[in-house]
Amino acid sequence: MIVTVQQHILQRQQQFPEARGRLSWLLSGITLATKMTESKIRRAGLLDILGPLNHTNVQGEVQQKLDVYANQALLHCLGVRDSVAALVSEENEEPVMLERSEGSGEYVIVFDPLDGSSNIDVNVNVGTIFSIFRLPERAKDGGSSAILQPGTRQVAAGYVVYGPSTILVYTTGNGVFGFTLDPAIGAFVLSHENIRMPESGNTYSVNEANAESFPAPYQHFLRKLRMGELGRKYSSRYIGSLVADFHRTLLKGGIFLYPPTASHVGGKLRLLYEANPLAFIAEQSGGIATSGRERILDIQPHDIHQRTPFVVGSSAEMTAFLESVGSVGSAHEVLDRA
Ligand code: AHG
Ligand code: MN
Ligand code: MN
Repeated sequence: MIVTVQQHILQRQQQFPEARGRLSWLLSGITLATKMTESKIRRAGLLDILGPLNHTNVQGEVQQKLDVYANQALLHCLGVRDSVAALVSEENEEPVMLERSEGSGEYVIVFDPLDGSSNIDVNVNVGTIFSIFRLPERAKDGGSSAILQPGTRQVAAGYVVYGPSTILVYTTGNGVFGFTLDPAIGAFVLSHENIRMPESGNTYSVNEANAESFPAPYQHFLRKLRMGELGRKYSSRYIGSLVADFHRTLLKGGIFLYPPTASHVGGKLRLLYEANPLAFIAEQSGGIATSGRERILDIQPHDIHQRTPFVVGSSAEMTAFLESVGSVGSAHEVLDRA
């Protein structure tokens, strides 16, 4: 008996009568857009959908054709759902505010439409990441003040990883669930019931090319890890698509780090649509996620595109990391909260 993601969220929403099925209707907008993107990715080499556009986005990065397609799919599929008041995308400089009548427009959706863009042309896993907030009482200025909420206020978060199979992983704050796209029926079907991140894993994931510019505590930690001082042997795995590196860490355990570097002294990954949703999933499955200074979910954003250092993974490796960066206090604080 199959359980689709729509059925799953409806079943669980019965616990929240006030949701009135709005969240499941929202999620169907996201799953539709990701199925549209998936169909392009599967045939990318046959369509004029690979390679760069001669246009850079707000991040100063050259946009890939698939970035734009994935973004348009999400903006369209979510823009027609009247429970959406605003959309924030990595590919849009400003939030897209939608005119909604009283009684509707209660959600804000934040997303990275295509994560790991540099890997598209070489047929390596890419992903889509999303995060859903309730819009506090009618946002007065209609602007980003209502959107700049800490990660602890997320109502739901998830990602789709387009790989050998296409898997949707999401949480609404009551555990983490995975659904595999069945191309025969075009539906995401429950395949990973209640995912728990292993307490420890044997891989660490970091872009070693930047290692010389990592802050000393990070270098100290990585040296300890490589020398077996954490009590086990580790392998290095780095795909360069955050969603894929995270998905492996979620299922197999271990640790992923994007530290401050010479070119990104505040970290490269974006808080709202990369770190927050994955931190929510990590904590819901028993893992820990920190900026190296504080719990990711506690960070009060000041800008929709702000970046943060991002370290996420199993409780064993993360506790060792937090002790290395000298904020032992936050190690226990983070553990207590997780
Ligand atoms: P995006 O494609 O959405 O811009 O994200 C790319 C990110 C993330 O997916 C990955 O972890 C990181 O960039 C890789 O950065 P480096 O190439 O600097 O390691
Ligand atoms: Mn990304
Ligand atoms: Mn992206």
